[in-house]
Amino acid sequence: VPRILSGIQPTADSFHFGNYLGALRQWVDLQDGHDAFYMIADMHAITVAQDPKVLRERTLLSAAQLIAMGIDPARSAIFVQSQVPAHAQLAWVLNCLTAFGEARRMTQFKDKSAKEGEGAASVGLFTYPILQAADILLYRPAYVPVGEDQRQHLELTRDLAQRFNSRYKKTFKLPEPHILKETAKIFDLQNPTAKMSKSAPSPAGIIELLDDPKVSAKKIRSAVTDSEAEVRFDVEAKPGVSNLLTIYNALTGRPIAELEQAYAGRGYGDLKGDLAEVVVDFVTPFRTRTRQLLDDRAELQRVLSDGAERAGAVAARTMEQVYDRIGFLGRDA
Ligand code: TYM
Repeated sequence: VPRILSGIQPTADSFHFGNYLGALRQWVDLQDGHDAFYMIADMHAITVAQDPKVLRERTLLSAAQLIAMGIDPARSAIFVQSQVPAHAQLAWVLNCLTAFGEARRMTQFKDKSAKEGEGAASVGLFTYPILQAADILLYRPAYVPVGEDQRQHLELTRDLAQRFNSRYKKTFKLPEPHILKETAKIFDLQNPTAKMSKSAPSPAGIIELLDDPKVSAKKIRSAVTDSEAEVRFDVEAKPGVSNLLTIYNALTGRPIAELEQAYAGRGYGDLKGDLAEVVVDFVTPFRTRTRQLLDDRAELQRVLSDGAERAGAVAARTMEQVYDRIGFLGRDA
């Protein structure tokens, strides 16, 4: 069975609909027929300052949410990146294979460092995509299910894999991104030409999975649309309405053309009201399940150690080959 790997950062109290519709939904579906490794990227999280207590709590919260949404720890390995030391080890090796200018071209660094200024951003933020390449290559996955914003990191990953393979010996598999066309990029409800993101200036446009459902409903009802009244999918001319239709379609499976028909001549209020209901029905049981899982922290810890055990075994094997091939002197057994 083909292997898949993906990761998510524990940098908020809740995952949002961009995470879910772009990536996590695929994580759940791809468990069937794949050998799946799902990682909570706490080492990526510390590329910007994190409060230690909050980070630890959000790591557990992330695990609970993954299980609550349907990831089955019996089939898929759910693990915490820092619990598998090979990630840091391979990242260093790949750092040494990456050209400075190549790392500089990563647009996420440009975006994320823009606020504080490039000079104040951490070196970790700069080499972030290289750690991500290590995360992936260690497991030699066929696919990496992600949203569109990760595409450039996947390209770098493939470049580094190829470089290592040609400089030393064929060691890594070139992974393919697995991106869902319809929901590759979910937009902010208040600013529908910007991606829905936890670092948005205001929470008003972000639907969080663990928000009070009433708050989520309200956010949908106040989503920015346009001054027409026609429910029509047109990303260029009507980004707000199109984003709502995308979310509606993804949550219900109702085709966009059918939704356009159903709301013809009815205006945006009806569309928003109905979508708000769909979202409430989705998040309410999810919240309950997440809370129940958090009641048994020892069990969550067990799931994560089991995941780290399984991931660590695969990663250690890759690492042993890597160290050998680059000429590190192994210890006598
Ligand atoms: P992160 O934590 O920012 O996001 C997790 C996943 O959610 C997707 N996503 C979106 N998809 C569609 N629309 C949106 N508005 C939206 N916002 C987020 C992201 O594309 C991602 O798939 N660098 C990664 C974490 C990572 C990783 C990895 C991923 C670390 N190592 C190895 C894959 C493989 C990140 O910050 O994702």
